[in-house]
Amino acid sequence: MRKKILAANWKMNLTHTEAEAYLSALVSEIGEVNDVEIVIIPPFTAIPALALASAKTQFIRLGAQNMHWEKSGAFTGEISAGMLRALYVKYVIIGHSERRLLFGETDELVNRKIQAALNTGLRPIFCVGETLSERDAGKEQEILERQLREGLKTVSPKDFSELVVAYEPVWAIGTGRTATPLQAQEAHAFIRSVLASLSDQGVAERVRIQYGGSVKPENALEIMRQKDVDGALIGGASLDPRTFAQCIRGTEAALE
Ligand code: PGA
Repeated sequence: MRKKILAANWKMNLTHTEAEAYLSALVSEIGEVNDVEIVIIPPFTAIPALALASAKTQFIRLGAQNMHWEKSGAFTGEISAGMLRALYVKYVIIGHSERRLLFGETDELVNRKIQAALNTGLRPIFCVGETLSERDAGKEQEILERQLREGLKTVSPKDFSELVVAYEPVWAIGTGRTATPLQAQEAHAFIRSVLASLSDQGVAERVRIQYGGSVKPENALEIMRQKDVDGALIGGASLDPRTFAQCIRGTEAALE
């Protein structure tokens, strides 16, 4: 049984003081949640404040939006996995489509980051997904398979259980256009089959696969009900603690 995981990807939003206020608002909205894993992924600058605050709540985990693959050195502007670990960060988004499209991240770099995260004890939230033109050309499976194979090329199957894969069709991110529950299920089942081909069925069955792309309270329940959908990576709708709380409730309802 895979525990569902809901992650709030704030992107470049909220200061550290806003982040503290958000966390207390979220906790008073949801009380204590044990059947869904909740991860808050703020900008780097809010991580120290949230590390202190989330330690008190226990059930809320902390993530980062990016990291560098080297341990240290002359990489101006970068942050290492060890620095994140030292702030009690547990998860790190790797290969988000905004990083791939706006910052030139290749499958090769994504692989280095995934490997470095695993070597340091961080759990990667490894993002994959096709663009609209790739889907229109019927190439979505080809793209997903390439991203998975390349991204995981050095990763030992024994480490797959540490991974979360996020299926984020690029055409659904921040556009208000969501994949239908059926489209999400099909893509997730395909991703699981590729993971099985890289390891075995038993290993692939343990990997959690999140859906991301315009998830909101109105559609969270239906998407979370799909067999191979094990959670969501939520951008826009996670910026308001009340709306994110509603997505958490939708996910809990899907477990019933
Ligand atoms: P969105 O973003 O929920 O605003 O579509 C999701 C993401 O980019 O992770």
